[in-house]
Amino acid sequence: MAQPADSFETVILGAGAAGMMCAAHAGPGVLVLDHSANPGEKIRISGGGRCNFTNMYAGPENFISANPHFAKSALSRYTQWDFIDLVARHGIPYHEKTLGQLFCDTSAKDIIAMLLAEMDRAGAVLWLRSTLDEIAHDGSRFRLSVTREGRSVRVTARQVVVACGGKSIPKIGASDQGYRIARQFGHALTETRPALVPLTFGAEAAFAELSGLASPARVTANGTSFDEALLFTHRGLSGPAILQASSYWREGDGITVRLCPETDFFTALRDRRARAGRRDLATVLTEWLPKRLAQTIAAQVGATGNLADLSDTRLREITAALTDWHLKPTGTEGYRKAEVTLGGVETAALSSRSMESAHQPGLYFIGEVVDVTGWLGGYNFQWAWSSGWAAGQEI
Ligand code: FDA
Repeated sequence: MAQPADSFETVILGAGAAGMMCAAHAGPGVLVLDHSANPGEKIRISGGGRCNFTNMYAGPENFISANPHFAKSALSRYTQWDFIDLVARHGIPYHEKTLGQLFCDTSAKDIIAMLLAEMDRAGAVLWLRSTLDEIAHDGSRFRLSVTREGRSVRVTARQVVVACGGKSIPKIGASDQGYRIARQFGHALTETRPALVPLTFGAEAAFAELSGLASPARVTANGTSFDEALLFTHRGLSGPAILQASSYWREGDGITVRLCPETDFFTALRDRRARAGRRDLATVLTEWLPKRLAQTIAAQVGATGNLADLSDTRLREITAALTDWHLKPTGTEGYRKAEVTLGGVETAALSSRSMESAHQPGLYFIGEVVDVTGWLGGYNFQWAWSSGWAAGQEI
């Protein structure tokens, strides 16, 4: 005889950042389901193990979406200061690293423990190693078939919150299930693509010999610029400036790179020519750039000999080589290396207040599965906290 179904008020699919936050702020009768063996795996590996859990300057302008207004309501009702307050109440030590980015002093596991404690306080039940096989709505309740630690279980719920995250890093549990559920219930998706991801270049770019070197840079893709570090890799370019620009880049587009954007190279090189004209260009450039990069640029512009022998015209050409690189990436490192998925469940059919579906009452979408993607720097977690909290207020 078939087992009777377990009945819950709400089932949250995904024990990641958004799902746990939602469970912590929802009413009673919540079950959180996750196919992984541990909750919050992305939190655990985030920020180099220290979790950049929010950004002091987070605002709607730090997010990309087909509807840039959609995130405003949740972000303004549950702000970075609310989350910072929660972290402080749990006695978790943290610090600002740079640009308003807040990291745990000790470990990202502190954030996971905090969310689990909050879920516990709210009375939420957590099922791990549990996979959703099917979901349907019978007109009054959701009916879910779940494989829980190898056994088939039936679950019913009045409400379902989809918090399955995006497609990046499949090896730690990312799946496309959230998008599939969205389609099943009539939701459109915007194009999904890897974002906050290193860019790759053909062999002719020859970055491999510079691999491991970093420099401050301004990287521009499709009119949006970021001033942060650029890192050379074996296959192309990475570092925060490139990861940020990758969210704006599309196949076939070029990017521009300006090394050391704070430096007026023409004036600086004229000054060095007057004061230290017997030095060569590569040596002088090491004032601003790593030695191997300085040597490569000097070789590329064909500047040998003393600085004193270079005319203003040559100095202008050299300045252009340092400040106006036009590069054409061949691709990205893909979901294997992407921190997030750009795009997702179209916001037009979601309530910006509650994240509830306009097509299926009782169905909610939160976190990365939604077409709201943050910049690098703690913004994606802030969206997970704000959207999870917003749905939690309604259920
Ligand atoms: P999240 O991915 O956290 O959770 C989804 C959950 O659903 C997972 O637990 C998964 O196992 C589960 N799931 C998926 N499919 C399922 C299925 N079919 N059945 C059952 N369960 C399923 N952001 C930031 O702000 N600061 C940072 O420092 C970093 N650092 C960082 C580093 C790395 C390496 C990555 C990959 C990402 C980041 N991010 C980040 C991004 C951040 O991790 C991400 O935006 C949030 O975790 C999204 O939260 P969600 O809850 O939406 O998804």
